[in-house]
Amino acid sequence: MSVSLADLDVEKFALVTGGTGYIGSHTVVALIEAGYQVVIIDNLDNSSEIVLSGIERITGRVPHFVHADLRDADAVIKIFKEYPIASVVHLAGLKSVGESIHSPSKYYDNNIGATLNLVKAMQTAEVTTLVFSSSATVYSSSSEPPLGEDAKKLPTNPYGMSKYIIEQVLTDMALANRKWRFGILRYFNPIGAHPSGRIGETPSGIPNNLMPYLMQVAIGKLAKLSIYGGDYETPDGTCIRDYVHVVDLARGHLAALRFLEEANGVHDWNLGTGKGTSVLELVKAVEQVIEKPIPSEIIGRRKGDMPVVFADVTKASNELSWRAEHTIEKMCVDHWNWQKRNPGWYQ
Ligand code: NAD
Ligand code: WQD
Repeated sequence: MSVSLADLDVEKFALVTGGTGYIGSHTVVALIEAGYQVVIIDNLDNSSEIVLSGIERITGRVPHFVHADLRDADAVIKIFKEYPIASVVHLAGLKSVGESIHSPSKYYDNNIGATLNLVKAMQTAEVTTLVFSSSATVYSSSSEPPLGEDAKKLPTNPYGMSKYIIEQVLTDMALANRKWRFGILRYFNPIGAHPSGRIGETPSGIPNNLMPYLMQVAIGKLAKLSIYGGDYETPDGTCIRDYVHVVDLARGHLAALRFLEEANGVHDWNLGTGKGTSVLELVKAVEQVIEKPIPSEIIGRRKGDMPVVFADVTKASNELSWRAEHTIEKMCVDHWNWQKRNPGWYQ
């Protein structure tokens, strides 16, 4: 069902950048289910318009969609003229740590350039509320877990640095003008998919991240998982991360938007479960769900990996009343359900 602009509740009209992407599509579903009208801007660099029909199947609504690049300043200004946007959730960006090390200018141009265009267009349109997708990767490797929002930040790769610079831009803007309402969400390790199996993560090429790699081994597309390091100072020797269900994460955006209705300035929240899971524990959880073993081999450490990363989620709990609800098992069940239904890159 498409909604005419005349029927809109203007207070609840959100622009979602990167809304056809993995986390964006789940966030759009959460917003629509909470009564928001949504317009998505995405250049489809890492997603597909097919996602829109997945969103429609889940919510019964088709979000407005603009196929454009945020670096195209005129296109961004036009969106704010055409739609009665009251708030922005900004997820669009490139996200591969490895690619960013090889092509740093691409990451600075895309992630920072796009954000500058976006906030300039917001300024012109007098839209002052923005929730930004940042990452746990901004924290320094010397910061001890659990990582609270005040932990030292020192990104070690251009991707993380692009996120950190954007955080600084937003902070300086909020200091210069009290009208701004900025929410910075630092995601830990998002996995899982919508329980319907209609939207999820679709990595192009060979995945870099653990869960999508595991899923492709599970479905037989990749032969075996290489586990990067079995000699860390952790109980089973493998690295520990804070995996969080993407549906929980999506709700976090809603909670941040609600918080910003009552508060100006810049605010930051870590979104994770607050609990760590090792690589071997995640492998085991997937094996239980797929009911067969995952071929794997422990090889050398991956450069730059931290032994243990998990969030202190107290601030999100206290300020947003947000808490991750889904277990690791549910994350595996939902990710596998999506993987089985969607074995390829938007085939
Ligand atoms: P994704 O690649 O699935 O989604 C990002 C979307 O942004 C894609 O649809 C892509 O086509 C679009 N996009 C990129 N550059 C654009 C541009 N210049 N103009 C318009 N659209 C553009 O990634 P995701 O996993 O959904 O991540 C969403 C956000 O969350 C990203 O900013 C990412 O850095 C951040 N994040 C992701 C993770 C993670 O592990 N997935 C963790 C922490 C933070
Ligand atoms: C998790 C663990 C690997 C693949 C990255 C980004 C971070 C954020 C989330 C965007 C590690 C191990 C992995 C494999 C393995 N993204 N592993 N074999 O590194 O915690 O975070 O994604 O913001 O910025 O850096 O996640 O899924 O890559 O790795 O053994 O084939 O799995 O060594 O211990 P990471 P990951």
